[in-house]
Amino acid sequence: MAPLARLSAVLSSLLLISPAAADTSAKRGLVFTPNNTWPQDNYIWTRSPSDLTWYYNYGSVPSPVYSNLTQSDFEFVPMLWGAPSDTSDTTFLSAVKELISGGRNVTHVFSFNEPELSNDYGGSDIEPSVAAEVWVANIIPLQKLGVKVGLPSCSGSTESVPWLNQMLSNCSKLISTSGTTKNCTYDFVPLHWYGNFEGLASHIGTYSAAFPNSSLWVTEFNLNDQSLATTQDFFNTSLEYLDRLDSIGRYSFFGAFRASVSNVGPNAAMLSAGGELTDIGAWYLGETATGVAPDSSSPAMRLWDRSTLFWTLGASWLGSAMFLAAI
Ligand SMILES: *[C@@H]1O[C@H](CO)[C@@H](O)[C@H](O)[C@H]1NC(C)=O
Ligand SMILES: *[C@@H]1O[C@H](CO)[C@@H](O)[C@H](O)[C@H]1NC(C)=O
Ligand SMILES: *[C@@H]1O[C@H](CO)[C@@H](O)[C@H](O)[C@H]1NC(C)=O
Ligand SMILES: *[C@@H]1O[C@H](CO)[C@@H](O)[C@H](O)[C@H]1NC(C)=O
Ligand SMILES: *[C@@H]1O[C@H](CO)[C@@H](O)[C@H](O)[C@H]1NC(C)=O
Ligand SMILES: *[C@@H]1O[C@H](CO)[C@@H](O)[C@H](O)[C@H]1NC(C)=O
Ligand SMILES: *[C@@H]1O[C@H](CO)[C@@H](O)[C@H](O)[C@H]1NC(C)=O
Repeated sequence: MAPLARLSAVLSSLLLISPAAADTSAKRGLVFTPNNTWPQDNYIWTRSPSDLTWYYNYGSVPSPVYSNLTQSDFEFVPMLWGAPSDTSDTTFLSAVKELISGGRNVTHVFSFNEPELSNDYGGSDIEPSVAAEVWVANIIPLQKLGVKVGLPSCSGSTESVPWLNQMLSNCSKLISTSGTTKNCTYDFVPLHWYGNFEGLASHIGTYSAAFPNSSLWVTEFNLNDQSLATTQDFFNTSLEYLDRLDSIGRYSFFGAFRASVSNVGPNAAMLSAGGELTDIGAWYLGETATGVAPDSSSPAMRLWDRSTLFWTLGASWLGSAMFLAAI
């Protein structure tokens, strides 16, 4: 082979093995669902480089493992998960005010989690009229402090939009006075989805029609219990869509756990049974595929990570150049 042909062969082989730049997104966050069995997993989501800029943990205070991170490092979004038994209870409001007075710049909060579903299905099971009272006591005072608030995060059920409309109507009654109708306002609308991409797109369409011009946050989504190829295809198609749509303010993929304890099927998890990032997990963080199978229980050997790739390429390029110079 002539030196020039050899050089071009070397160059094209370098290009072939060089992974494509991973897609990244400022919308991407973490639904934090830690398992105490593997505390080391908690650091995967915040290690550098990570594409995740914000997280929530279904609670009102930051997770201890991330409590040293500031809001600009990794924004914590508090959630008022369910309704207190006394609807005038302001524990949530106090907790958020305490975070703010302690110096944490809380700018967004979530309200109820799947209130239209019963506890058996992971819902917070709240009557819209009860939710409205809790909203008035806890959420409206936060709005007055300038915090942006999300409508309740409902499931993919057809009950969700009617539930939300009823809560808004009940809430409006509570704050209106005879003569002046006032509406309860909100700054963004979270939603959840489990199922295929067409279903996700259709559900987003329903929400866009019900809450025109609102910023939608898809705060739990996945295609559960499918083959790895189908799940990866869903992942790629959905993320491309959510990144592209201006109406989507933020999103968080539900799957930050090991395949062995996944409640949405092993292939939907971002960590393998052995605690390594799966392809989906790596893609979500803006990294390249790891090739680690969800059921892989031993920490698998990665072909390369970014620094070894750099050194391998650098060394092979230098080696080729020296070889070519010598002939
Ligand atoms: C945490 O992991 C253990 C296995 O070590 C499992 O038995 C348990 O169900 C997991 N907990 C949750 C909430 O997934
Ligand atoms: C937070 O910072 C304090 C002081 O530097 C340190 O003692 C503590 O271990 C840190 N906590 C975590 C969870 O990293
Ligand atoms: C709080 O965060 C918001 C949004 O990032 C920013 O605009 C604001 O300046 C921050 N406020 C403080 C006091 O840091
Ligand atoms: C809540 O709203 C629904 C629908 O608008 C209405 O039927 C119901 O009476 C309201 N409940 C209360 C307590 O206002
Ligand atoms: C209040 O909400 C109702 C129903 O969504 C709407 O028709 C009305 O225009 C709103 N009023 C104000 C003042 O925004
Ligand atoms: C949505 O926003 C557009 C452009 O800002 C505006 O023209 C339209 O009236 C808005 N629609 C609603 C329902 O608020
Ligand atoms: C998903 O996207 C990644 C790049 O982000 C690509 O390498 C991979 O082949 C895609 N997988 C599927 C199943 O589309």
